Amino acid sequence: MANMHFGKLSDVWKHAALAEVLDRQPPQRYAETHAGSGAYPIVHDTERQFGVLRFLDVAAGSEVLARSRYRAAAASWLDGRGLYPGSALLAMTVLGDASSYLLCDLDPGSAADLRHWASELSIDDCEVAQSDGMAAVAAWLDRHAGKTGLAHIDPFDPDERGPSGWSAFELAARVADSGTALVYWYGYDEPGERAWAWSRLAAQTRAPLWCGDVMVTGTSRAPGDLGRATTPGTGFGVVLANVEPSTVSACTAVGDALADAYADVLLPDGSRGNLSFTTRQREA
Ligand SMILES: C[S@@+](CC[C@H](N)C(=O)[O-])C[C@H]1O[C@@H](n2cnc3c(N)ncnc32)[C@H](O)[C@@H]1O
Repeated sequence: MANMHFGKLSDVWKHAALAEVLDRQPPQRYAETHAGSGAYPIVHDTERQFGVLRFLDVAAGSEVLARSRYRAAAASWLDGRGLYPGSALLAMTVLGDASSYLLCDLDPGSAADLRHWASELSIDDCEVAQSDGMAAVAAWLDRHAGKTGLAHIDPFDPDERGPSGWSAFELAARVADSGTALVYWYGYDEPGERAWAWSRLAAQTRAPLWCGDVMVTGTSRAPGDLGRATTPGTGFGVVLANVEPSTVSACTAVGDALADAYADVLLPDGSRGNLSFTTRQREA
């Protein structure tokens, strides 16, 4: 199954932070455990209207969002072509042929789509593995640990163990410990779970870490359910490890600008709300 949540607000923040990191510290090697498909035909439903479509509208009025790498990359695929770029295609768009790629997904359709877009963009060094991403990226890390690589880990289930014995979360801690740059995505349904991945990762690695967490707030009392809808009490974030202070500052500025641009916004359920953006940091 590819990414059924493409283009929703949780993708906007994940991809905005990822694009900023890739643009500012281009890795020689990019690896992704759960790559999804390359591109998705855009859907004009309430979640995408609230997500990427609204983002592109409001970005024009925000100096920070207007010059963000994500805005330029997302607009280049949406305008005219009507496609939303998944994280792997976003990486190929930002890094081009200067990097090598290991892109993993169990879904045959996603793997075929990734191969299609790598060929379309004339990327020479792109391995698409239709296999467990934790096993493939753990082996990649054994070959390439260090400052020249970046691993993006974006799981549905952080604790499910694949055939390698590694869960996505354990692999994230291992990537951080190796000195390799890490982009780790997480989500949650309850305000009490805010920034949970930061707390857990900080306890498992001594690497420099940063977390940018976006939580939807509002008056609606319906229980949050991130998997279905962007409702008050739901949230999501990215934890970065081993990235430069200037990259952290840039991601913080994008998160703050996103919250400003969505102030008193109409949520997908029709109620009014806001985005609360908060950061955590442990420096080197
Ligand atoms: C949330 S989507 C990925 C979205 C993508 N990273 C993006 O941001 O555009 C999760 C993907 O993980 C894939 N998947 C699930 N378990 C996997 C595993 N053990 N190894 C590799 N891929 C897996 C699914 O097929 C799905 O396409």
